[in-house]
Amino acid sequence: MKIYKTFLITMIIILLTSSLLTAGSVNELENFSDMDSSTKTVDSDQLLFIPPILEGTLLNDTIEFSLQVQEGEKEFIPGSKTKTFGYNGSYLGPTIRVRNEQKVSIFIQNNLNEDTTLHWHGAHVPAEMDGGPFQVIRESTTWNPQFTIKQQASTLWYHPHLMGKTAEQVYKGLAGLFIIEDEISDSLPIPHEYGVNDIPLIFQDRKFNNNGTFSYRPNMPDIQHGYFGNVMLVNGSIEPEFIVTETIIRFRILNGSNSTVMRYSFESGIKFYQIATDGGFLEKPVPLTEVILSPGERVEILVDFSQIQTGGGESILAETNGGDVFKTVQFSFDNEMVDSVYTIPDFLVKITPPEAESITGSRQFVMSTGMGGNLTINGKQMDMNRIDEKVPLGSTEIWEILNTGMGGMMMNVPHSMHIHDVQFLIIDINGIKPPENLRGWKDTVLLWPGDKVRLVASFMDYTGKYMYHCHLLEHEDQGMMGVFEVVN
Ligand code: C2O
Ligand code: CU
Ligand code: CU
Repeated sequence: MKIYKTFLITMIIILLTSSLLTAGSVNELENFSDMDSSTKTVDSDQLLFIPPILEGTLLNDTIEFSLQVQEGEKEFIPGSKTKTFGYNGSYLGPTIRVRNEQKVSIFIQNNLNEDTTLHWHGAHVPAEMDGGPFQVIRESTTWNPQFTIKQQASTLWYHPHLMGKTAEQVYKGLAGLFIIEDEISDSLPIPHEYGVNDIPLIFQDRKFNNNGTFSYRPNMPDIQHGYFGNVMLVNGSIEPEFIVTETIIRFRILNGSNSTVMRYSFESGIKFYQIATDGGFLEKPVPLTEVILSPGERVEILVDFSQIQTGGGESILAETNGGDVFKTVQFSFDNEMVDSVYTIPDFLVKITPPEAESITGSRQFVMSTGMGGNLTINGKQMDMNRIDEKVPLGSTEIWEILNTGMGGMMMNVPHSMHIHDVQFLIIDINGIKPPENLRGWKDTVLLWPGDKVRLVASFMDYTGKYMYHCHLLEHEDQGMMGVFEVVN
């Protein structure tokens, strides 16, 4: 009971201070623990949870995986449980790791009391295997998509995509990583040992009620501006600790939040190197001190912790576009930290953009908020019975995306564009070549109000119906989505 009370007080203080303080302050739960000196608030002794690698079974030349979509309960706040959804567990899902050219077959059993779907975000797979709103998995049934991996090493993810219900199902915990490896990722002199020096970090902000249960009840302004949380989870825990055992660590970061844009940095301001975007490696590591991800986007980074004294501390800060700064993973370094056998490589891969002569067409997509607050793309809301764009198979197109930023009081709403089936390259942002860390293959791009982004993508191999949409999940569920059909 005491923990509840302290948590309640802490939450009220956080809510009050977060609206008063300017960005740059730190919402550290522990800072408030001396409100009631006899109890601790949030226990941050938990170690960073690493989602397990899903074991597959090799049958002939195909790897079979099985996922159970299930209800569960989880104690995020010590002493109180909340109802959750998870894959093979109570929250989030295991990491699926496959190689390029591998044939896979996944059995997805829906044990929920509602329909769901399972979409392979970032994957180039046949339309019927994509797991978008057209591939509903009814309750108590199993869906068995099968496809061959046809893309380079990258950090993708999977999540539900049921029409109008994506946001709520993801919020409750349905999400997992889907990692592709290939010869290049094997041979690069970068850390590869999952859970040891190759660490997944799934960031999700969540709003908790005073009693420690999830609160998912976005109102109209929340839907427009983003449903901001009062707690930041990393792989499902609050301020977890990660013990660094080697100096160079590779992190695969997913912004897994519903609608919160985040800026990540290290507390001490140390430099890190971005090595990959959504769909694969960059040409060379890009030194940064911060990186911004919108929901659904991923980066891989290398961090050299040798600059930190043993016994010292470090953490990752996540600043949200809601104006809060959360302290997230806490790193500790002991004498056992060994010098990594890796260094920061000079070169990663060669990225070959499509030739100018191969470009066969262009289209424009205007993302805006209409008069009544309707979120639209090209003035339309999603209709599963309508094909918005027909794209010829084998074509290479330039898509120009605009966030008009219009809509009365909704001026400052960011949007993003996510395209199924393809990975694209950004040609320019507001007429300017993208910054170096955005010059890799991507499937999702952030657009601040007023932004205009041009990208290029090739639509190869598969025909059928796919989606493009804003990946702020509340916007997507409100219809900021369209259907494109790749046609012969
Ligand atoms: Cu991550 Cu259409 O989705
Ligand atoms: Cu997707
Ligand atoms: Cu949007």
